[in-house]
Amino acid sequence: MNRCFVAACFILFFGAGSVHAQERAPKSTAAGVFTEEQAKRGAAAYDANCAGCHGEKLLSLGPQFPSLAGRAFRTAWIGKTIGEKFEFVRKSMPPKAERSLGDQVYLDIVTYILRFNRIPAGDRPLTPDLEILNQIQIATPTR
Ligand code: HEC
Repeated sequence: MNRCFVAACFILFFGAGSVHAQERAPKSTAAGVFTEEQAKRGAAAYDANCAGCHGEKLLSLGPQFPSLAGRAFRTAWIGKTIGEKFEFVRKSMPPKAERSLGDQVYLDIVTYILRFNRIPAGDRPLTPDLEILNQIQIATPTR
């Protein structure tokens, strides 16, 4: 086998692989874009860092704090992308301690909020890759 042939195969193989990965990037949460375990990890981090204001059941503990479930979830989350919500939470929550948690922890918390609101889980964990997160729209759960 000559070297050019090997190089061509290499490009074909990996080039095709990356096109494939883009095609496979999910466009909506209906596909199940995070895992149940990830949402569970998010629950623990939420209880420690967010529940004091937003409530253990994601229903606000005071008029100054928005709820993160029910009607509030439908208006502020459905139709947005996971990227938008992740970016907001990471750069503004908790107030006065913005960016105090790691990106993966913020994202796990976001998956917990989604799961709590009956967005389906799937079999692959979500990682904090904004390019991908910005493409995934939060869809009304079907059941
Ligand atoms: C000290 C109280 C406090 C804590 C702790 C807190 N928040 Fe908030 N949160 C607020 C207030 C006040 C607002 C409304 C002001 C605003 O939107 O900037 C808000 C708004 C939000 C919103 C926007 C509403 C929506 O549904 O899009 C989200 C999401 C959110 N918080 C998530 C979190 C998460 C996740 C955590 C934990 C990492 C957290 N908050 C911790 C007080 C708090």
